[in-house]
Amino acid sequence: TMRKLIFVLLLVVFAVSIFVAEEIKIGVVLPMTGGISAFGQMTWEGISLAHKMYPTVLGKEVKLILFDNRSEKTEAANAVARAIDKEHVVAIIGEVASSHSLAGGPIAEKNHIPMVSPASTNPMVTQGKRYVSRVCFIDPFQGAAAAVFAFKNLGAKTVAVFTDIEQDYSVGLSKFFVDKFKKLGGKVVSLYYRTGDQDFTAQLTIALSKNPDAIYVTGYYPEIALLSRQARQLGFKGYLLAGDGAEAPELFSIGGDAVDGLFLTTHYHPKGAATSMAKKFYDAFVKEYGKDPSALAALGFDAYLLIIDAIKRAGSADPEAIAKAIRETENFEAVTGVITIEKETGNPIKDVVVDKANAKEKKFDFAAIVSAQELK
Ligand code: PHE
Repeated sequence: TMRKLIFVLLLVVFAVSIFVAEEIKIGVVLPMTGGISAFGQMTWEGISLAHKMYPTVLGKEVKLILFDNRSEKTEAANAVARAIDKEHVVAIIGEVASSHSLAGGPIAEKNHIPMVSPASTNPMVTQGKRYVSRVCFIDPFQGAAAAVFAFKNLGAKTVAVFTDIEQDYSVGLSKFFVDKFKKLGGKVVSLYYRTGDQDFTAQLTIALSKNPDAIYVTGYYPEIALLSRQARQLGFKGYLLAGDGAEAPELFSIGGDAVDGLFLTTHYHPKGAATSMAKKFYDAFVKEYGKDPSALAALGFDAYLLIIDAIKRAGSADPEAIAKAIRETENFEAVTGVITIEKETGNPIKDVVVDKANAKEKKFDFAAIVSAQELK
């Protein structure tokens, strides 16, 4: 009868609303498709593993809601807005490319929703913000580490620096490298390209005429791989050097033998990780996916863990309380290091890992660690 039915329906609605209130929604904004989709895929592996291992906080289920920014700046902003307006998330993990975090971050900031970038390294991403923080080092460190490594470890005196002028990440990283490399006494030749470029021979011809000991490409794996191929085709025999944006399996599928021996600065390598959480993560990751974890997987894992830890310390899933607790993070045992978030900047200070690309085995070998102390 009608009355009974309505009663049952009301009961269901009531039960569902209680259940919904009992879960904590975290938005995840990543480039799952498009130009740098490898970054999104790798980061998501780490975040979902963390969620599987730590699915609850304050006795409530954590629900992850994934948004694809399609590797585009406008979508990077839209996705953050959708997570907040439509899904009412209490926190956001994202994004990867600095230009994407620079597009989405201001929306999180305006809405007072804490956002933790796993991997955006440009200083401007958190600058002047209270709600946007990150678990990775920033590019003044990364660029200086690459410069020190090039000058001291590789003995490079002249470096050709290639910058993707469409990426805030690349523009910043090149600048920080050049500043440090010159300070060390090195010489630099600067060249420019754009995301999506296929032909680098004009710039390479100019670069090679200066006989550089190394080519340093800041940018992302599709262009780094192509540029490396063309550099070798033009007879370049020196060192190839890149930043964290080089680390993807596609570096090998696009770059082939040309990327063998390429050095890159990054955030994590199983062989360089020392914390107890790193051990736990490594074993769980290999068991889950049957392969070694990437730096982005480790950073995604850490971003999730950091937010859960902040919620726990805050004793609340209120966005304001979470944001405050994130900025109070101290000596947090993560996979990529022990993380203390600077209250003012939202940045941790961490060591830089150097990897060497191994084209034969299509993997990245651990090469060195440049400690944050050394870079001060
Ligand atoms: N640091 C890059 C950026 O800011 C993103 C990135 C990090 C890519 C780690 C790959 C690995 O744009």
